[in-house]
Amino acid sequence: MGETIKTEGLSVSYGKKSVLHNISLEFPKNRITSIIGPSGCGKTTLLMALDEMIKEIPDARVTGNIYIDDVNTEALSMEEIRRKVGLVFQKPVPFPFSVYDNLAYAPKYYGNHDKTSLNRIVIEKLQMVGLYDEIKDELKKSALKFSGGQQQRICIARALTAEPEVLLLDEPCSSLDVKSTAIIEETLLRLKEKYTIIIVTHNIAQAKRLSDKVVFLKDGLKIEEGDAKEFFRSPKEEETGEFLRGIYG
Ligand SMILES: Nc1ncnc2c1ncn2[C@@H]1O[C@H](COP(=O)(O)OP(=O)(O)OP(=O)(O)O)[C@@H](O)[C@H]1O
Ligand SMILES: [Mg+2]
Repeated sequence: MGETIKTEGLSVSYGKKSVLHNISLEFPKNRITSIIGPSGCGKTTLLMALDEMIKEIPDARVTGNIYIDDVNTEALSMEEIRRKVGLVFQKPVPFPFSVYDNLAYAPKYYGNHDKTSLNRIVIEKLQMVGLYDEIKDELKKSALKFSGGQQQRICIARALTAEPEVLLLDEPCSSLDVKSTAIIEETLLRLKEKYTIIIVTHNIAQAKRLSDKVVFLKDGLKIEEGDAKEFFRSPKEEETGEFLRGIYG
């Protein structure tokens, strides 16, 4: 089952530049939460804080708390957090080897060397992203030789092989065409039965199609959050309305 992830008073700065201010947010289990907001408002930073990727940026400083199912992540190792929280980037970045090896990578890393079990994982995760039937005869082909949409689904499938609880996606469709985008959206709607999904998107129509919950950030502040239908129908804050009408961002 997916888990709830929440932040409490989360702030992030890069050197002297403060980019996220005191963000408290809850991402409900088995729901899709979209994070929207103008370029530079801190969306990617928030995702990187959630999976602790941010700790690899030397001058990044994070304060506040993050909880995964009520366990403070301070009590967890970075490896445990990375395992619970999978991150998919804007541009698909498959490893430069076969589809099969991309998907077997994490299970092997975690100590699974059983061929039958690895085969099963590869098939199951490709099925989850609706890709298995499409590429089942090409599993030995380099992952780099597939279309952008296919590569992005390979990356989502790869993220799932670590058996995460939470799936973070940073603008996963921004380099894809309408058809690939629709396929990824269908995939995410299916995956939310099993995972807690958080997606950053610049595409308001996409946020409307996918979200159960929406969070609007601006200048590193949480301006508004709410149930998606309510949020889009009648945003409470003036700034949210302006953003949705395309006045800025
Ligand atoms: N490694 C870094 N060092 C210093 N400043 C950074 C770093 N990464 C991001 N920033 C700054 O932090 C702020 C937030 O950046 P972030 O990438 O989180 O924004 P974003 O909302 O994801 O934007 P976009 O929609 O363009 O992807 C920006 O002002 C950015 O310039
Ligand atoms: Mg970003």
